[in-house]
Amino acid sequence: MAVERTLVLIKPDGVQRCYSGEIISRFEKAGLKIAGMKMAWCNKQHAMKHYTEDITKRRGEFVRNKLLEFLTIGPVVAICLEGVEAVEVVRKLVGGTEPRTAAPGTIRGDYAHMSYTYADDIKKAIPNLIHASGNKDEAKSEIALWFTPEELHSYRTVHDVFNI
Ligand code: PPS
Repeated sequence: MAVERTLVLIKPDGVQRCYSGEIISRFEKAGLKIAGMKMAWCNKQHAMKHYTEDITKRRGEFVRNKLLEFLTIGPVVAICLEGVEAVEVVRKLVGGTEPRTAAPGTIRGDYAHMSYTYADDIKKAIPNLIHASGNKDEAKSEIALWFTPEELHSYRTVHDVFNI
C-alpha cells in the first residue's frame, strides 16, 4: 500500500531557533498527516539507539559521538508523519543532509547553510534542523523507538475525505 508512516525529528537546533511551528506547517501544507507528535529530551542511551553503529561504519566514531552529543543538548520534537509514499516525500521536503548544498525551497536549504567541512573544523555535528527516516525499514524501527503504539493515532483529515 502506498500510504506510509515516517519519522521526523526537529533537532535541538530547530527547537532552539524557534522553527518548530514553521517546520510542522510545511509538512501539514504538503498534506501529510501528523499521526503522532511529542517533545522529548532524550538521554545518551536513547540517542545511541537512534544513531546506531551503522553511522560509525559509514562516517566514523567521531561523527557518531558528535551526533549523540548534539541530539541530547536539548529537547527535540518527534513527529510521525503519514501520507502517500511519505518516506520519500518527507526527504524531498527536508532537502539534502548538508545544508550548504540542500536545494532552495527545502527546509534545510531555506533555513540553514553550514557545510560538512566547517562542522568538522569546529568539531560539531552539522546543525541541519531535522532528521528524517532514510527508507521504509528505518522508518519502521525509528517510529517504534520514539513512539508507543498508543501514541500513534488513526483519524481522517480533509485529504482522506477528498482524496487530495
Ligand atoms: S538525515 O539526513 O536525516 O538522514 O541525517 P541525520 O539523521 O540528520 O544524521 C546526520 C547526518 O549528517 C552526517 N553528519 C556529518 N558528516 C560529516 N561531518 C560532520 N560533522 C557531520 N555531522 C553530521 C551524519 O553522518 C548523518 O549522515 P548519514 O548520511 O546518515 O551518515
